[in-house]
Amino acid sequence: MSSRKTVVVLDITGQLGCSVARAVASSEEFEVRGITNNLLNEGSWNLQGNIPLAVPCDLRDRAQLQKILSGAHACFLSTSTNFDDPDCVEKEITQGCLVADVCKSEHVRHVIFISQLHSNNICKIMARHLVAKAEIERYMRHLDLPLTCLILPVYYQDLCGFLRPKTSDGFSYDIEIPMGTIPLDMISVEDIGPIVVSVLSQRETYLHKTLSVCGDKLTVAEMAYILTKHLRPKQAADDL
Ligand SMILES: NC(=O)c1ccc[n+]([C@@H]2O[C@H](COP(=O)([O-])OP(=O)(O)OC[C@H]3O[C@@H](n4cnc5c(N)ncnc54)[C@H](OP(=O)(O)O)[C@@H]3O)[C@@H](O)[C@H]2O)c1
Repeated sequence: MSSRKTVVVLDITGQLGCSVARAVASSEEFEVRGITNNLLNEGSWNLQGNIPLAVPCDLRDRAQLQKILSGAHACFLSTSTNFDDPDCVEKEITQGCLVADVCKSEHVRHVIFISQLHSNNICKIMARHLVAKAEIERYMRHLDLPLTCLILPVYYQDLCGFLRPKTSDGFSYDIEIPMGTIPLDMISVEDIGPIVVSVLSQRETYLHKTLSVCGDKLTVAEMAYILTKHLRPKQAADDL
């Protein structure tokens, strides 16, 4: 029987869950129990590497969550905001709090949660994805879970996703990030998995702490310079 401690990683079909699952799977101290809420497309996920098959689980179902968290040493949780849904804040909070409740009842010894600052409390801005996560964190602290929170910046990979530069001619690309000359905190999502493993293996050091992690701080002009350097003859520029 394996002496490695089991870490439940939720949503391993996402960029972040996948990074964490792969890092945990390749550690010597831990083994991964990877979970997906995607019950429809079993087998069609792009897990980009060698990790055990995902276990499908309806994350709204307490009994299923109890089964997957039973006997687990740790749980890695990030929640997602569906901005198309007017009730997304309540739904995200409900989801996160349910996982928190089950972590408590199953005596999970370390919970790592991707949190955020409460923008509404801090500066009266209702950024739904931030507020939902801050409220889940508040509930986790109320439960006195053995918690470590991570606060993540934008991924470099987002420059190929929702921050993808716009082009009309396939040659000039405009980066539409309204930061002016203020540098933006960024990180590679691939670096987050190893950070999580480091936190897991130093549980006592990181319990009840919040870590704000960052790979680099880049201005949009610096992003444009780097993209242009590596993608010549294509050219990128700050659009704003
Ligand atoms: N992207 C960034 O720059 C960034 C920066 C800081 C923090 N974060 C945080 O990191 C976490 C993961 O982000 P990511 O970019 O890695 O996500 P992603 O690649 O878009 O993956 C999201 C994952 O969440 C699952 N999911 C569960 N419920 C969902 C819902 N209601 N709506 C959408 N997806 C849902 C998806 O499952 P299926 O698709 O299989 O259903 C998928 O596995 C989130 O908490 C996000 O706020 C992201």
